[in-house]
Amino acid sequence: EIIDGEGKVVMPSFIDMHVHLREPGQTEKEDLITGEKAALKGGFTHVCAMANTNPVCDNEKTIEYILNKHKENEICNLTQISALTKRLKGEEFVNIDEMREYTNLFSDDGLNVDDIELFKEALELSKEKDFKILTHCEPEAETIKRDLKLLTDVGGNLHICHISLRKSLDLIKEYKDKGLDFSCEVTPHHLFEWNNEYRVNPPFGTKDDRDAMIEGIKEGIIDAIATDHAPHTKKDKENGSPGISGIEEAFSYVYTVFKEEGISLNCLSDKMSYAPSKLLGLDEALIEEGKDANLVLVDLNESHKINTSNFVSKGKNTPFEGRQVYGKILITIKNGEIAYKNEERKNDNR
Ligand code: NCD
Ligand code: ZN
Ligand code: ZN
Repeated sequence: EIIDGEGKVVMPSFIDMHVHLREPGQTEKEDLITGEKAALKGGFTHVCAMANTNPVCDNEKTIEYILNKHKENEICNLTQISALTKRLKGEEFVNIDEMREYTNLFSDDGLNVDDIELFKEALELSKEKDFKILTHCEPEAETIKRDLKLLTDVGGNLHICHISLRKSLDLIKEYKDKGLDFSCEVTPHHLFEWNNEYRVNPPFGTKDDRDAMIEGIKEGIIDAIATDHAPHTKKDKENGSPGISGIEEAFSYVYTVFKEEGISLNCLSDKMSYAPSKLLGLDEALIEEGKDANLVLVDLNESHKINTSNFVSKGKNTPFEGRQVYGKILITIKNGEIAYKNEERKNDNR
């Protein structure tokens, strides 16, 4: 098939290190089919699904269930993340050897900031068993401080999820300057917005916190952008569940901000494709001869308003309804084949 891409941009597809797909147990919020379709629509060909499912993804049976369910349709490529501790309670480790057969990513939510011994042990295990700890950091700056101190002493493989505060960036910069090896991510919404009461974890920061995130990107301190796509039903949202359904418009949020801030498309590609691919040990973002391509075709001149009635995700929860953004995903190519095509564009005469 010949695709007319005149005036458009082709780049590696995106890789999302952090999404919530809600299966099993919360399919009223999202399921593997809708979540993976939403990912493709957002230009992502690989997502890493968090372990806070119901039951928690902390055992062989549950991870097998998820991966088998995913294989039935295989809409987007998927890495399922395991919990690090049973039921995400921060008390007892999961059977690491068993879960390691399925994944190299372990999420530490539930682990208390005071629990130094357990985290130390986790870092040691991450070296020994060769996996990455995705650390959630609540309260943020305090936990990052603990983690980086311990990482300095013990070593290990650590990735810090969704940073949002200038204090966090300062700490991360301090330790990276010392040569400590670890990585971190920021969400598109923490780049796009500040001073907003909308419930999300971590909460939106001040303008200064948000500006720190931009600096972190510009100075190369922040490694990756990950959506933390967190779909909820209308009812759950009314009852206070934190989170934003963000994967479909993630590129537009980031591109809009980068355009305003004068940050290059190459940098966007690094943060959304190359860096996550490298951090995850995937080669999906690499374009090589003879290899199936994972690509997106984007229209950078397009501008649209966020409209949740177009979301394929079950989660319509976002504070950005009606907001004007730039850039649109036209086509997503996954493993050498067109996996998503935006059908609206034929009617779009801009
Ligand atoms: C997460 C979710 O919905 O699973 N929400 C969020 O705002 N990031 C859970 C959480 O991290 O609190
Ligand atoms: Zn989180
Ligand atoms: Zn999350």
